[in-house]
Amino acid sequence: MTPIRIGALISGGGSNLQAIIDACEDSRIDGRMAFVGSDVPGAGGLQRARHHGIPTFVVDYGAIVDQYRQAPETLAPPSDFDPAEIGAKQHLLGPEAAPSRVHAFLTTRAVAEARLLDHIAPFAPDLLVLAGFMRNLTPYFIDRFNTDPDRPRIMNIHPALLPAFPGVDGYGDTLRYGCKVGGCTVHFIDYGEDSGPIIGQRCFPITESDTLDSVKQRGLTLEWQLYPECIQYFAQDRLQVVTMTHTGPQGRPPVQRRVVKILRSP
Ligand code: GAR
Repeated sequence: MTPIRIGALISGGGSNLQAIIDACEDSRIDGRMAFVGSDVPGAGGLQRARHHGIPTFVVDYGAIVDQYRQAPETLAPPSDFDPAEIGAKQHLLGPEAAPSRVHAFLTTRAVAEARLLDHIAPFAPDLLVLAGFMRNLTPYFIDRFNTDPDRPRIMNIHPALLPAFPGVDGYGDTLRYGCKVGGCTVHFIDYGEDSGPIIGQRCFPITESDTLDSVKQRGLTLEWQLYPECIQYFAQDRLQVVTMTHTGPQGRPPVQRRVVKILRSP
């Protein structure tokens, strides 16, 4: 089987990135890392990538947002950006969000995402993994990367048992809620926040003596196992996204949901 080309986007220290690099190097993933990109110029994970000879790049989202705030007319959106089309598709900001806020968000994201796509194109990755990338991707990027809607190829790892606790602080939200188990989830990206089809999950008990640090540490240890396993399913072409229809609760209409089937090993 030809090894897949994997690209990663990160924002932080990159311990998940390291787990993926190690799994590629140990042949637990039939793939090789093609590049690592970040929205944060000094992200620690970039150094990890360089250490393994993996090309890196940065698209500084913060600088793009600052430029828009100071002089919006100087920030030209990409020529193929249609704010009405992207605005109608996205599920990141609700109908209550002010139109000016939606416009600013989608415009700055389209600028950043067009730069990401320019950096990524020469590497022609088969799969993009978000490994602690703390920015939601909008439909502008997703539709240009996922050229076949039936074969999504952007994965994310989230520090909670989705659909509980989407957002930026999954382990913190889990602990503060008083949950007796925590966990992590790998899923494909869709137009919402942490809402795409789930590929794999792991869970662990939480006791009264746990702290945020101990919960994070236990969760991360599971993330480092789960993410490479899910990537290997993709490399083996064992992930199939199908639409499931279930009877609705108490006579309500049927529920449809895109879910991931893990096919048997060939
Ligand atoms: C991980 O816990 C990952 O699940 C989380 O950020 C951490 C990154 O750690 N991701 C998110 O919260 C995405 N919304 P790392 O940089 O050491 O891999």
